[in-house]
Amino acid sequence: MFNSGISIHLLPLNFCLLFCSMFLAWGRLCTRNCRPKFLKTVGASKILGLSTSAKMSLKFKNAKRIEGLDSNVWIEFTKLAADPSVVNLGQGLPDISPPVYVKEELSKIAAIDNLNQYTRGFGHPSLVKALSCLYEKFYQNQINPNEEILVTVGAYGSLFNAIQGLIDEGDEVIVIVPFYDCYEPMVRMAGATPVFVPLRCKPVDGKTCSSSDWTLDPQELASKFNSKTKAIILNTPHNPLGKVYTKEELQVIADLCIKYDTLCISDEVYEWLVYTGNKHFKIATFPGMWERTITIGSAGKTFSVTGWKLGWSIGPKHLIKHLQTVQQNTVYTCATPLQEALAQAFWIDIKRMDDPECYFNSLPKELEVKRDRMVHLLESVGLKPIVPDGGYFIIADVSLLDVDLFDMKDSKEPYDYKFVKWMIKNKKLSAIPVSAFCNAETKSQFEKFVRFCFIKKDSTLDAAEEIIKAWSRQNS
Ligand SMILES: Cc1ncc(COP(=O)(O)O)c(C=O)c1O
Repeated sequence: MFNSGISIHLLPLNFCLLFCSMFLAWGRLCTRNCRPKFLKTVGASKILGLSTSAKMSLKFKNAKRIEGLDSNVWIEFTKLAADPSVVNLGQGLPDISPPVYVKEELSKIAAIDNLNQYTRGFGHPSLVKALSCLYEKFYQNQINPNEEILVTVGAYGSLFNAIQGLIDEGDEVIVIVPFYDCYEPMVRMAGATPVFVPLRCKPVDGKTCSSSDWTLDPQELASKFNSKTKAIILNTPHNPLGKVYTKEELQVIADLCIKYDTLCISDEVYEWLVYTGNKHFKIATFPGMWERTITIGSAGKTFSVTGWKLGWSIGPKHLIKHLQTVQQNTVYTCATPLQEALAQAFWIDIKRMDDPECYFNSLPKELEVKRDRMVHLLESVGLKPIVPDGGYFIIADVSLLDVDLFDMKDSKEPYDYKFVKWMIKNKKLSAIPVSAFCNAETKSQFEKFVRFCFIKKDSTLDAAEEIIKAWSRQNS
């Protein structure tokens, strides 16, 4: 009686306490997970005594420097292509095996204690030495491994360090369209203005179109330079077109850089991947260019190990030191075992540069066969691919396939975005929309093109061929 009397008496209080604690817990959850707008609507911040944190939450807003930079083609399309039933010719991700010696070097190094600890921030000593030895052959000059080379987190790291370290608010940076997609956001994050200049295709009367048909108009390019121009970003061999700039084309750019006292950030991650009849030139070796050029390379592209995310910048001490400042205050250093393994891999190939076995010679040979296979495949279904002279991508105008994108008619996305999404869903084949490599104003010029990656095993290319041929049979 006594007990039940008390419990009956306390029941409303218990309920009240239980309700309050549930309400408080819910409130805590809301402040953590919900948007401030929601808290404002129900006035919960006042009820919960959370007015300070609700006000604080206005500070959750992004920094202005990243405003409008939230979409990213790799994040969007890598997710869509993650389904294992999709044949992935999208991202530049080799599914061929990297060279055996590269993998072996890495596994040996894991057993060496001191190579599992931090190393020199600007580049592991044995790697910068190997890089200087390799590139001296091309620059015909000594390269100081400690002052003229910086090892970075992929070529992305080099681009970021160069742009953050050298470009200021109010500067203009010339970007050639189409461009590797991160150039524009990186320039904007530095507070500078990208000034776009397009590669234009010369008309080709029914002939196979090559990436060399895409050129800059020298007068149009010259019109973009002025006293505010701080740098031009060059990419040769080019992603996504596969264009390999000729010596004459680079001379036009070099002359303008010198005339307007402009820097050149030269992204050469596909430097070894150049096909018969073409040659890669380094703009930094042109007279008057070394002192104003940062040249960028990538281990991922050089040895087909994109997951290693190691890159490097090469340039004069007076520029590299500013990139070092960014690096020492951001990532500080790169992974030691990967750097040591990369150095050892370079030594193996540096010693046999003229040998067909050297990976710098064997990979382009292997890829040229794959490129030709892709060209024939795309042509066999009535497409007109732009035959790349370098790199491992091929682009084609897919509007010729006349696909009915009816279920996407309400989407405001460019045609190529809709096409690739349709193709992933309905044909289980992925690619990358080329308008992702354009600024807002030029997207419409490139939205008929999609990019296919051909650094793939024969079995992957077989699967792609089967899909494309079956699709063409259905259409005929
Ligand atoms: C032209 C270009 N630059 C830079 C990068 C980034 O290279 P990394 O993976 O070494 O950061 C890529 C990657 O695809 C690229 O195509």
